[in-house]
Amino acid sequence: MTWKTLDDMDFAGKRALVRVDINVPVEDGVVTDTTRIARIIPTVDYIQEHGGKVILMAHFGRPKGQVVPEMSLEHIAGAVADVLGLTVTWVNSDYADAVAEMEEDEVLLLENLRFNPGEEKNDAGFAARLASLGDIYVNDAFSAAHRAHASTEAVAHLLPSCAGRLMAEELGALEKALGTPERPVVAVVGGAKVSTKLDLLGNLVTKVDHLVIGGGMANTFLAAQGIDVGKSLCEHDLADTARDILDKAKAAGCEIILPRDIVVARAFKAGAASETLAPDACPADAMILDAGPATVAYINDVLEKAKTLVWNGPLGAFEIAPFDAATNAAAAKAAALSKAGKLISVAGGGDTVAALNQAGVADDFTYISTAGGAFLEWMEGKTLPGVAALEG
Ligand code: 3PG
Repeated sequence: MTWKTLDDMDFAGKRALVRVDINVPVEDGVVTDTTRIARIIPTVDYIQEHGGKVILMAHFGRPKGQVVPEMSLEHIAGAVADVLGLTVTWVNSDYADAVAEMEEDEVLLLENLRFNPGEEKNDAGFAARLASLGDIYVNDAFSAAHRAHASTEAVAHLLPSCAGRLMAEELGALEKALGTPERPVVAVVGGAKVSTKLDLLGNLVTKVDHLVIGGGMANTFLAAQGIDVGKSLCEHDLADTARDILDKAKAAGCEIILPRDIVVARAFKAGAASETLAPDACPADAMILDAGPATVAYINDVLEKAKTLVWNGPLGAFEIAPFDAATNAAAAKAAALSKAGKLISVAGGGDTVAALNQAGVADDFTYISTAGGAFLEWMEGKTLPGVAALEG
């Protein structure tokens, strides 16, 4: 895939229409994690330093084409200004006038794109309206690139287009991890349900050398092999699917790593009494909440020999101690190897970054993606429309 980057464009005297993802967590009106905002700084700075004006377009939440006041980007504009260290003017009408009047060092933030029904419909008319506000289109929202929306797809065809720094960085890291990786490659996939990660597992077994399956999903695989998993979270109806994935892995020469020992408890709560048992020894009234130390020792051994790691999802119920132990221990190993330059580690998607932050190791991973759903779709081997639209 080839796409232009900021370096290929001439921003002098131009209006840059920059799609960003500032869909950040907010609690009681306060942005609780500004990571996604901070990651757009290099793009904004580059454009301004090269004489361009920055018009940011973004979505927030899922208002489904309606104006939902609590999802207004007005509430985020202050945090964007603080993090960028720039004057950020939020505009919800008369966009063309606001653009005509904006100062060089000012940043305009357009109202939540998803208030307009044309956004999610990838509507040509809405895309043309957006395109009329800029001279160059920059997509810096990898984490929204799995959506074929007017601001991520249609508009890219209407203006000279390029990838922003964050988009280019994400794509570069992901290409290194699964496109043309150094082998052996290990993937760690955890989380509650196999049903949400079927395509992902199916794709990974053809790409990686070792696939660690953890979390509730591992129970489904154990059960599919005839093991009684007691009261554990388990999708018994997916037994055939799990067996198909195991067969596909075998045919592809991919080692599937399931728990070699399990940590079980009778209550799903922090500090619940637990015991470590063999995978086939889960009592009928207990549930599996984590992988045990023997599993971690084996995973760590595999990581020692690996060159590349892709991580998505926790190995156990990481939100409640002590069932975060396997996730923390394997993540610490991956971080140490990465820090020592022995492993390229890329993590992303949903709970993963929260789990790695909780383990205190996120900074030592080679690359942490800002993306949730887009990271998963990329791991599934899908073409992301927002990326495809930049090609040419
Ligand atoms: C995200 O938070 O992962 C992105 O902003 C995409 O949001 P969406 O799933 O609502 O499209």
